[in-house]
Amino acid sequence: MIGVRNGARKRARLVALGAEVPERIVTNEDMAKMVDTSDEWIYSRTGIKERRFVAEDEAASDLAVRAGIKILAEAEMDPLEVDVLIVPTASPDHIFPATATLVANRIGAHRAAAFDILAGCTGFIYGLAQGTALIESGLAGNVLVLGAEALSKITDQTDRSTCILFGDAAAGAMLVAAPEDEVTGFLGFELGADGSGGQDLVVPAGGSRMPAKDGPYEAALSCIQMNGREVFKFATRVMVESCTKLLEALEMHVDEIDLLVAHQANQRIIDHAISRLGIPPEKVFNNLERYGNTSSASIPLAMLEAREAGMLSPGDMTLLVGFGAGLTWGSTVMRYEPT
Ligand code: COA
Repeated sequence: MIGVRNGARKRARLVALGAEVPERIVTNEDMAKMVDTSDEWIYSRTGIKERRFVAEDEAASDLAVRAGIKILAEAEMDPLEVDVLIVPTASPDHIFPATATLVANRIGAHRAAAFDILAGCTGFIYGLAQGTALIESGLAGNVLVLGAEALSKITDQTDRSTCILFGDAAAGAMLVAAPEDEVTGFLGFELGADGSGGQDLVVPAGGSRMPAKDGPYEAALSCIQMNGREVFKFATRVMVESCTKLLEALEMHVDEIDLLVAHQANQRIIDHAISRLGIPPEKVFNNLERYGNTSSASIPLAMLEAREAGMLSPGDMTLLVGFGAGLTWGSTVMRYEPT
């Protein structure tokens, strides 16, 4: 892309959604054959019934390519019109090159700048903020934000405290530039990070702290390790704080929100947060029962299915909120005006 500031103020607007999930369904009963657990334990603690796993020879970019093609089709856009491709991911194909560059090449977005965002499960919200900033500064016109995860590849399938939680998916959204006078798109963001909790959700090996070349390490060190109780406490707190701060900054009342889509990690975390925020369950869409926690893909995957369920319609004021490794968190309010 070439971006030159020309003084024309724009608004970033979300015009298309798309998602791809792997074919293979892994139910709680399947999990109970792999580790000492049960459907009752998993469902009552998390709200998850099943998740999807990629095939042995698939990686995050393979799902992202298929999701990206769907988003381009819905946006009725040629891949060469994409100025920037942002891939939030916690399970990239490689440390580098960025998964985004591989996806850009395969979908034909040859004009696009392409980079990954590493912000755990908050990655999609961070990516929306980045895309919005690029568009509203005048540097970019069309930004594809495409969360892509093959978390099953970095999960220890013998660790019952983590393997039951995570699933694979890619999902994202196309952001375009709309005239500034349109009351549309992203009204604001609240983003944060607290690295003091970094070790509560971590893949210890494979980076420069514990280089892969110094291995082999036991498999668990190359997989997600989590202090579930600490992450639970953190998530319930920041979801409420982030949304409250953002609504206050926007001088909005929670009643003005038509739909809340939260990061799909745990039903109990979401239920706790919405009751504290005063958002009725009928304004909240969840699908973690069928997909588990798909990290950067979870919010756009839920938005897409909310729309299919008739809960996301043009004009709807939508609150999105996420949290994850870092530890990070973020929320945004957007008016959904796809056309
Ligand atoms: N099946 C059966 N028992 C399990 C189990 C499983 N899959 N996983 C853990 N247990 C056991 C533990 O070993 C422990 O047994 P013990 O008391 O004999 O030691 C017991 O269940 C309680 O474990 P605990 O970790 O305290 O459970 P919990 O109520 O905190 O629930 C989580 C665990 C992971 C579901 C919960 O902490 C959580 O959801 N945390 C947030 C995780 C998250 O959202 N992460 C992603 C953020 S992006």
